[in-house]
Amino acid sequence: CLSSEAVVRLNTSELPATSNIPPSILEKTKEKLHLLPNHPLHILKTLIEKSIEEMHPREFSFYDDLPQLVSTKDCFDDLLVELNHPSRRYTDTYYWDEKHVLRTHMTAHDTTLLRAGKRAFLLTGDVYRRDSIDKSHYPVFHQVDAVRIFDRNTSQNEDKIIADLKSTLEKLAKNLFQSDMEIRWVDGEFPFTYPSFEMEVLWNGSWLELLGCGLLKRGVLDAGQVDKDSKGWAFGLGLERLAMVLFDIPDIRLFWSKDERFLRQFRDGEITKFKPYSKYPSCYKDITFWLSEKFHENAFYELVRSIAGDTVEQVTLLDEFHRNNKTSHCYRIVYRSMDRSLTNDEVDEIQDKIREEVARRLQVTLR
Ligand code: PHE
Repeated sequence: CLSSEAVVRLNTSELPATSNIPPSILEKTKEKLHLLPNHPLHILKTLIEKSIEEMHPREFSFYDDLPQLVSTKDCFDDLLVELNHPSRRYTDTYYWDEKHVLRTHMTAHDTTLLRAGKRAFLLTGDVYRRDSIDKSHYPVFHQVDAVRIFDRNTSQNEDKIIADLKSTLEKLAKNLFQSDMEIRWVDGEFPFTYPSFEMEVLWNGSWLELLGCGLLKRGVLDAGQVDKDSKGWAFGLGLERLAMVLFDIPDIRLFWSKDERFLRQFRDGEITKFKPYSKYPSCYKDITFWLSEKFHENAFYELVRSIAGDTVEQVTLLDEFHRNNKTSHCYRIVYRSMDRSLTNDEVDEIQDKIREEVARRLQVTLR
């Protein structure tokens, strides 16, 4: 059985009182955009699976519907993520209860699959992080992760495994970009791999960070009950950033659009350029308040997102100042819909609601 004790209780039971998952985020767990035929994220997922299968025929198992709720052991402990690592904080991660989170990365499934005896696999799914709001950040996004374990004969030579990792990923990048891209490797740092690398590709004159990878640390392999003589590589890549570049998609909210003018532009198996159907006007409103003990930026962003939904394009801290031990923040909220023109009244109403809720829930003092 592949699921841990944290089998999806997402749809079946009530949210524990200590949870920091808002209903708007819980709703997103049903969408599974990477499974929608002809959706850009599905197109990329399929192309990646196909490339890996072609490079290593009949070796990999593919998963795209593993449960989003995982234990903190799966997500952090087994992967050697230190106790004080930022990703474990309540302000950065969605906790179901003290021991279960909405996965923050697909790597969370690695040790469970290794314990189940899998030695090569590729996983696609939605991951969750509390974060700021702008054109390329959304609290839900999608990742592809993979692991390949080598037996004792190959494992005696780490350089060989690193060479296999890098050539696999270079071929994958070439397949996706459909050309001989300029690629460079830079050193990376992840709690679960050593050595670690990041692959960057040269795109329109600037280097784009595409993925993280490395050799799985012995401690992770132990947690996965992989025998002492075996070693292996792992990689993880974010689909949205890649899709925005390959399909020319200018805003990360578009992936969630139900508008046919977006969805009908794409076909499975093809990477084509998005033709913007129009850009609706934006407007902004500022909000200023004295902070409270309870205030945290990510909680504020999330509150804005949960009230304004996808009509909010960006939230930026415009100004901060201190007086008598108190701190004041001024934020600019930029509103723009992807699908239609917003009316003034409707934006005013959203802004009023945000003011009300921020004061009530985060106990700030409005100015
Ligand atoms: N899990 C990492 C992330 O979310 C990516 C990664 C996966 C890096 C596997 C190394 C190995 O950024």
